[in-house]
Amino acid sequence: MKSPCSSIIQFVFVLLLSYHCWVTFGNIHATSSVPNENLFLHCLSMHSDNFSSISKVIYTRNNSSFSSILDFSIQNLRFSTPTTPKPQVIVTPLKESHVQAAVKCSQKYGMQVRVRSGGHDYEGSSYVSNHHVPFVVIDLINLSSISVDAEAKTAWVQAGATIGKLYHAIAEKSKTLAFPGGVCPTVGVGGHFSGGGYGFLMRKYGLAADNVVDAHLIVVNGRLLDRKSMGEDLFWAIRGGGGASFGVIVAWKIKLVTVPETVTAFIVNRTLEQNATKIVDRWQYVADKLHEDLYIRVFLSSAASSRRGKKTIRASFESLFLGGADTLLLLMQQSFPELGLVKQDCIEMSWIESVMYFAEFRGQSLDVLLNRTQPNVRFFKAKSDFVKEPMPEIAFLGIYEKFYEKEAEDAEISFTPYGGIMNEISDFETPFPYRAGTIYKIQHMVHWEEEGSEASQRHINWIRRLYSYMAPYVSKNPRAAYVNCRDLDIGTNNKGYTSYKQASIWGLKYFNKNFNRLVHVKTMVDAGNFFRNEQSFPPLSSRKKNRD
Ligand SMILES: Cc1cc2nc3c(=O)[nH]c(=O)nc-3n(C[C@H](O)[C@H](O)[C@H](O)COP(=O)(O)OP(=O)(O)OC[C@H]3O[C@@H](n4cnc5c(N)ncnc54)[C@H](O)[C@@H]3O)c2cc1C
Ligand SMILES: *[C@@H]1O[C@H](CO)[C@@H](O)[C@H](O)[C@H]1NC(C)=O
Ligand SMILES: *[C@@H]1O[C@H](CO)[C@@H](O)[C@H](O)[C@H]1NC(C)=O
Ligand SMILES: *[C@@H]1O[C@H](CO)[C@@H](O)[C@H](O)[C@H]1NC(C)=O
Ligand SMILES: *[C@@H]1O[C@H](CO)[C@@H](O)[C@H](O)[C@H]1NC(C)=O
Ligand SMILES: *[C@@H]1O[C@H](CO)[C@@H](O)[C@H](O)[C@H]1NC(C)=O
Ligand SMILES: *[C@@H]1O[C@H](CO)[C@@H](O)[C@H](O)[C@H]1NC(C)=O
Ligand SMILES: *[C@@H]1O[C@H](CO)[C@@H](O)[C@H](O)[C@H]1NC(C)=O
Repeated sequence: MKSPCSSIIQFVFVLLLSYHCWVTFGNIHATSSVPNENLFLHCLSMHSDNFSSISKVIYTRNNSSFSSILDFSIQNLRFSTPTTPKPQVIVTPLKESHVQAAVKCSQKYGMQVRVRSGGHDYEGSSYVSNHHVPFVVIDLINLSSISVDAEAKTAWVQAGATIGKLYHAIAEKSKTLAFPGGVCPTVGVGGHFSGGGYGFLMRKYGLAADNVVDAHLIVVNGRLLDRKSMGEDLFWAIRGGGGASFGVIVAWKIKLVTVPETVTAFIVNRTLEQNATKIVDRWQYVADKLHEDLYIRVFLSSAASSRRGKKTIRASFESLFLGGADTLLLLMQQSFPELGLVKQDCIEMSWIESVMYFAEFRGQSLDVLLNRTQPNVRFFKAKSDFVKEPMPEIAFLGIYEKFYEKEAEDAEISFTPYGGIMNEISDFETPFPYRAGTIYKIQHMVHWEEEGSEASQRHINWIRRLYSYMAPYVSKNPRAAYVNCRDLDIGTNNKGYTSYKQASIWGLKYFNKNFNRLVHVKTMVDAGNFFRNEQSFPPLSSRKKNRD
C-alpha cells in the first residue's frame, strides 16, 4: 500500500511544509531511543507490582510487533502514513496497575500520553500527537472484559471493549435487554461513551453516556477513582466531555434498557426520479416528532441513474421500530405516508439481529460482533452539524451539485433524527448540550482509497466546500459540532499549549454552555495539564507551566 514513490513525494512535501514538520519527520525515523524513554521504561519496571508481567505489554519502536500493534486499531488511513508522528512506546495493559504505572511514569519523565480504546477517533487523536513531543500510547485493547447482570439490568464494561462485544454479551444473557450506543461494532466504549454515543435507540433511551451509572477512572498520579471518590463534577465531565482531558477510563458501569422480543427494520431507497427531494424535505418535518419507538435516519449520496451515463442522488431511509411490522405500517401511514413504506420493506427480527442487519452482517454468526477488524478501513474526513429549522427544499439542490463532483464518489451526508427522550433531557445533564430544539444532526463524510497528500487534500477541500455551503442552513452562534465526530478544522491547541481563548473556539461548538464547567473540572483534576491533546480542555491556573 505504501509505495516508495509516495514516501518520496510525502518527504518533499514535508520539507516544504515547515520546520516543525521536519522535526516530526526526523522523529519518526529516529532509531535510537530518546533519553526520557529509557528513564520511562526503567520507571515502569520499578512501579509495576510484577515486572515479568508488565514487561510483556511494552512495545518499543525496535520491537518487531510495534507496527502491527499500532496499526491494528487505526480506523482512518490518513493517520497511517510514513509522515504520521508515531509514539515512542505502546503499552497494552492487562490490568489496572499497568495503566497506573504508565500514567505515573509518563508524567514523571515528560512523555505525553494518548489513550486508545477502539481507535475510531476521526482525527486519530488516540494514537497521533501533533505536539512534537515523545508520546506513549496506552492501548486498552486487552482490557475488554464485560459482565452483564441481567437481573439488575446493569453491566460493567472495560473501556477497551467494543460496542459489538457489548451487544454480543447482552444478547447472550437476554433477548429483551439492549444498550443505546452506536452502529459500527468495532467502535470502542472508551471513546464512544465518553464523547456521547448515539444509535438507533437514541430517541427512546438517549445517548450511551446518558446510561452510564458508574466508572473507574485513573487520574494524574495514578490514582484509581470510582463515581463516589471522583465526585459528581468529574463523573459528569467524562459522560460526554471526552475522556482524554481527564484521565484514563478503565471501566464503565451502564444501565441496560428493555426492548421487545420482536423489532422491525427497514431500508428504503429513493432516487431523485422517485421524488427523493420531496420525501427528504417532508422527513425534516416529521422525523423528530415520530413516536419514540420509531427512528428513521437518512443518508444522501450520489448513485448511478437508471438513465445510462447519468448520475442521480439516492436517499436511503434506515429505520428501526421497537415493535412488529403491522404496528409500524399503521404508524407510517399516519405520520409519514410520503415514504410509501410497504409490508415487503419491513423485516421483523430480534434487537441483536437488527444490530447485525445495520452492521451489514445479516445471516452471519453473532460472533462477528467480536471481531475488532473493521471490514472497510479507508481514508476519510468528516464534519458534523445540527439543524434547528428545516432546510428549504432549494438547499438540497446545492448539496446535489457537490455530490456530483468527482471527489464525492464515496461521500455521504447523513441525517440523524432527534426528539423523543432527547427533548426531555436537559442541556446541562451531561456535557452534550444539543437536546430539545434540535430537529436532526448531520454528519458529512467523504472516503477515498487513493494514497498521497494530493488526494487527501482534494477530498478534504471538497468536504470543506460542502461545509461552507451548509452554513446558512444549520445551527449558528455557535455552529454546533459533535465531539465524537472530531474535526480539527474547527480549532486546535496546536502547540500543546492550551489557552482558554484558543480552546473556546472548538469548545463552544462541541459543548456550548457546558464548556466552562468542563474547564473548571479540568482545572480541579489536572491543573498541570498532563492529559492533553489537540482538543483538550485548558486548566485555568497553569498556563505558564507547560513545557512546549
Ligand atoms: C466507522 C465508524 C463508525 C462510527 N459510528 C458511530 C455511531 O454510530 N455513533 C456515534 O455516536 N459515533 C460513531 N462513531 C464515532 C465514535 O463514537 C468516536 O470516534 C469515538 O470517540 C470512538 O471511540 P474509540 O474508543 O473507538 O476511539 P479512540 O480513537 O480510541 O478514542 C477516541 C477519543 O477518546 C479518548 N479515549 C479513548 N479511550 C479512552 C479511555 N479509556 N479513557 C480516556 N479517554 C479515552 C481518546 O484518547 C480519543 O481522544 C463512529 C466512528 C467510526 C470511525
Ligand atoms: C530496543 O529499544 C530499547 C528502548 O528503546 C532499548 O533499551 C533496547 O536496547 C533496544 N533493543 C535493541 C535490540 O535494539
Ligand atoms: C508475575 O507474573 C508472571 C506472569 O504473568 C507470573 O507467572 C508470576 O507468577 C507473577 N509473580 C508474582 C509474584 O505475582
Ligand atoms: C516485543 O515486545 C513484546 C511485549 O513487550 C515482547 O513480548 C516481545 O518479546 C518483544 N519482541 C522483540 C523481538 O523484542
Ligand atoms: C491482547 O489482544 C490481542 C488482540 O485482541 C490478542 O491477540 C492478544 O492475545 C491479547 N493478549 C493478551 C495477553 O491477552
Ligand atoms: C412523484 O411525485 C409526483 C407528484 O406528486 C407523482 O405524480 C409521482 O407519481 C411520484 N413519483 C414516484 C415514483 O413516486
Ligand atoms: C440502498 O442504498 C444503499 C446505500 O445507501 C445501498 O447500499 C443499498 O444496496 C441500497 N439498497 C437497495 C435495495 O437498493
Ligand atoms: C475479522 O474481520 C476481518 C474484516 O472483515 C476479516 O478479514 C477477518 O478474517 C475476520 N477475522 C475472523 C477471525 O473472522
